[in-house]
Amino acid sequence: FAHWGANNGTLEFEPIAPVAATVDDLNVPKNYDWSPIIRWGDPLFHDSPEFDPRNQTAEAQAKQFGFNNDYLDIMPDAGGTAGVLVCNHEYTNENTMFPADQSEDLQRTASVGIAAHGMAVVEIVREAPGKPWTYVRGGARNRRITADTPFRVDGPAAGSDLLKTVADPEGKTVLGTQNNCSGGVTPWGTILSGEENIQNVLSGPDTPENKRYGIPVEPPKRRWDLVDPRWNGNNAGYENEVNRFGYIVEIDPSDPNSTPVKHTSMGRFKHEGANVYVASDGTVVAYSGDDERFDYLYKFVSEKKYVAGDRAHNMTLLSFGDLYVAKFTGNSEGEIDGSSRLPSDGAFDGAGEWLPLVVDGESKVEGMDVDEVLVFTRLAADKAGATKMDRPEDVEPNPHTGKIYVACTNNTLRGEPGLAGADEANPRNNNRDGHVIEITEDAANSAGTTFHWDILLVCGDPAKNGSAYFSGFPTDKVSPISCPDNVAFDSQGYLWIATDGAPTAIGYNDGLFRVDLTGPKRGRTQQFLSVPQDAETCGPVIHDRENMAYVAVQHPGEDGTFETPRSYFPDYVLPTREGEGQFAMPRPSVIQIFSTTEGEPPFVDEDGR
Ligand code: FEO
Ligand code: CA
Ligand code: CA
Ligand code: CA
Repeated sequence: FAHWGANNGTLEFEPIAPVAATVDDLNVPKNYDWSPIIRWGDPLFHDSPEFDPRNQTAEAQAKQFGFNNDYLDIMPDAGGTAGVLVCNHEYTNENTMFPADQSEDLQRTASVGIAAHGMAVVEIVREAPGKPWTYVRGGARNRRITADTPFRVDGPAAGSDLLKTVADPEGKTVLGTQNNCSGGVTPWGTILSGEENIQNVLSGPDTPENKRYGIPVEPPKRRWDLVDPRWNGNNAGYENEVNRFGYIVEIDPSDPNSTPVKHTSMGRFKHEGANVYVASDGTVVAYSGDDERFDYLYKFVSEKKYVAGDRAHNMTLLSFGDLYVAKFTGNSEGEIDGSSRLPSDGAFDGAGEWLPLVVDGESKVEGMDVDEVLVFTRLAADKAGATKMDRPEDVEPNPHTGKIYVACTNNTLRGEPGLAGADEANPRNNNRDGHVIEITEDAANSAGTTFHWDILLVCGDPAKNGSAYFSGFPTDKVSPISCPDNVAFDSQGYLWIATDGAPTAIGYNDGLFRVDLTGPKRGRTQQFLSVPQDAETCGPVIHDRENMAYVAVQHPGEDGTFETPRSYFPDYVLPTREGEGQFAMPRPSVIQIFSTTEGEPPFVDEDGR
């Protein structure tokens, strides 16, 4: 197809300079501007109360946009002037959400906090493709998914004794989804979302399984158990509540009355998210990382095949299939000690194997039944001998090539006494800046059990860190990058990387970067935006044919307090203007970046990723 419109519809840009970690501003390239689409507390329904942070209630919050937006998708309808925004609300920052005089009232902060978690589906409209969106209060598809929303549990572990509680003796219905971090959109138009740091809201008995998942025995500081006893698994009848979180959930954003699903088939761990790829024979595979230091990378392979156009059938594909965990093997001589040396053969690369955990409905792990493998997946993968990774966050197949990109965000404990040291796939001890691995399935068979891999980026600020590596691209011509977290692809096949943690690593605000994957510029890394002080860049969505990009700006000013904000993002209303209708406080928000160059891109970018 031809390219039209502003900048020819390729989202061309001049990279921005890195921004010091003390700057409370959102920076975009020349000839682009940004605006918020929706902010924490914005009312979603006609009867939603207006945002009133000094008098916030659980009832109000449950009808408003939640806190700490992470995963994001922007899904235009045919025609491109209406659509939906789908978002995860991962966690809460009580210190910036509540005035100090309310912070001791744990009943209040917990009940509001519970309602601020979950997910949101919000209708959006605009004048024309390429123009900024506004959200629709009272939109027909608007929905808040909260801790009260019933989820159907499916897959081999549904109904397992491990999932039963006094409130759900069948073990097949869970209220709510928690700590949803990243996610993905399926080819059939549903959203996958990963339940991640559930130990922040749940506690449970002192068992080896809970220990392996980092579940505390004492209730965590948010004290949700004061509102509902189920959040503390030491309360009689709720011992298994903790086993009911840590899954990939699937949401249908087109139907606000649909019952979302928890897929036990993809295992239980700290799922960053999941992204699917349809293999040439129609088998659907899903890749997912367990975001913990020294944890693993997983692949699900569907039993049934994708059928184009049959949405109801395709919505069953993730319910049953095989589950594997990755083992990486390097192929260079000698030790990789994490210094600035390249491996002996000049490249970080090697072979890999998908180790079976569940195949054809049978457990492949000695001493564990299928439901145990799927509920205590970390322990199963330990037994299988998987490779301990540096916090695999987003894992996403490139829709243009099927190659998989794994953002290993960082792992400062690698090489510490008693812990795993550097290996070729995790080549740095004290890996502060993270790296990005590229996986190529052997014989282009996404459903197969062997692969090859190489490292695309060893992140860092090359001006200060000799071990930074950009696939051989000159390090004096790249933007410094640290702590890769969420990834996305555009219609041209570029990889986009959002970061989380750069301020404490390389001293710059987090941002969004574009990386060349092919040709002589492979490894070229260019910064597109930077987020305000203390914020993390989440959920990038790139609609390059419309010259637009979207990010969820999470936890702006999180090291401040309600009374002493460290950020005024996104409205930048200063305290002197309080009372004029907006509040002088940071609000996690979804923002859009759009071209200010004249021109009307005619493309509706419905599948820009
Ligand atoms: Fe919620 Fe793995 O970041
Ligand atoms: Ca996050
Ligand atoms: Ca993340
Ligand atoms: Ca992160």
